[in-house]
Amino acid sequence: MMYNKLIFEISQPGRVGYSLPKRQFTKYDIKDLGNHLRQTDALLPEVSELDCVRHFTNISKKNFGVENGFYPLGSCTMKYNPKINEELVKTMSFAKLHPYQPISTVQGALRAYYELQNALSEISGLEEFSLNPFAGAHGELVGLMVMKEYHMARGDFKRTKVIVPDSAHGTNPASITVCGMEAVEIVSNDQGMVDIEALKAVLNDEIAGMMLTNPNTLGIFEKDIVEITKLVHEAGGLMYYDGANLNALLGKVRPGDMGFDIMHINLHKTFSTPHGGGGPGSGPVGVKDFLIDYLPNPRVKKLEDYYYVANVGDAIGQISGYFGNFLVALRAYSYILNLGKENLMQVGPLATLNANYVRQALKNDYYLPIEGYCMHEVVFDGLKDNPHEIRTLDVAKRLLDYGMHAPTIYFPLLFHQSIMIEPTETESLQTINDFIDVMKKIAKEAKEDPDTLRNAPLSTPITRTDEVFAAKEMIFSYKDYLEYINSKG
Ligand SMILES: Cc1ncc(COP(=O)(O)O)c(C=O)c1O
Repeated sequence: MMYNKLIFEISQPGRVGYSLPKRQFTKYDIKDLGNHLRQTDALLPEVSELDCVRHFTNISKKNFGVENGFYPLGSCTMKYNPKINEELVKTMSFAKLHPYQPISTVQGALRAYYELQNALSEISGLEEFSLNPFAGAHGELVGLMVMKEYHMARGDFKRTKVIVPDSAHGTNPASITVCGMEAVEIVSNDQGMVDIEALKAVLNDEIAGMMLTNPNTLGIFEKDIVEITKLVHEAGGLMYYDGANLNALLGKVRPGDMGFDIMHINLHKTFSTPHGGGGPGSGPVGVKDFLIDYLPNPRVKKLEDYYYVANVGDAIGQISGYFGNFLVALRAYSYILNLGKENLMQVGPLATLNANYVRQALKNDYYLPIEGYCMHEVVFDGLKDNPHEIRTLDVAKRLLDYGMHAPTIYFPLLFHQSIMIEPTETESLQTINDFIDVMKKIAKEAKEDPDTLRNAPLSTPITRTDEVFAAKEMIFSYKDYLEYINSKG
């Protein structure tokens, strides 16, 4: 069928999808560009506007998103993004602003920005926030730069090591390394939490701090958190809170009260803004009062009723163009105002209830490596009764046939067949029950019809791929695709 063809396959020489007015511009001689001047025509599809629109519309229908179906990715909080937030950011008063506009003409936008900074402070228990970072990992880097600057400013140059538990998200050690510091990994205990003795063993005068997410990436609340923060502080280090899992705590516990000094918040997780495939997201960084001067510039401040932009203190410099992703931040502000304090306080408890409901319902079919209640996400370690050695990958692929996105798999790395499920608070009981039914059906298929699982998915536009080939030999262009087809003969 034509609509399954690649856009290059419907291309016809000379067909165009545009018409430009006759040239109205002066002709420039661009010979000076030398080698930089293109020598051959670009390989582009020649299609009409209608062909082009149909092509991309059909591709978009093959995408799976949180608006098509259940999307239970663990460690990611893929919650619904309310449409009212989208409407707000589309209004001319926000969408068409320019960062160089005179301050007096953007007072409303600055007020929203300022009030979001304050709302995040109140929610997290940290004194001041910068909304500048573009994502969680970017926030981590900025927070670690703050940590580093703090020690340097005090002449404590030896402090270059940051402790991370072995359950940490990969971005944590990566950010530490990018920041020019060294990650020191410590083991978790048999309940999946920080091992206090292992922590004590690495604390010394070279430790700049510790990075922790709580609940951790196993979905377990670090119940010794107050002791952990005390030990690190006594050793002269700072505590960094990776806010990716803040959704579980919203309304119940504040990182600042647990003893954390620096944190980032993934607005695109906890505060319902879109993830956008690696960006544009937003990862505001908050700090306790003694670190305020190290936050990046520019900052939005208020003097009486007037909002203004300032460069303050010994900041680490500027880490993003202008103010970060303002429209993403605005969606979070709208979400907070729409829910209001009381409803916001229900987010963590409901997300936690939903994850425990899934845990209880599936624990006879999937292996639970850690007993006890979980927080907002539950981790299984593959199928429980598994005579045909069906892997977690097969279970995940089969879910796609039932119209549901797979949960996070093979993370956390502590288990061989991890399946990490985070239903979030925005899913209804019916949807969660449907998911549970499907997971049970798959567990039954694993015993009775293992080949279906091994070959799944059977109903998606692209069926089972060679994962290694797909990752290592990516085909980015039609030209590469033709070369690949030709090499196959
Ligand atoms: C625990 C944890 N930390 C950090 C990150 C990084 O956040 P981002 O994807 O916004 O860069 C993630 C993302 O999944 C995460 O789960």
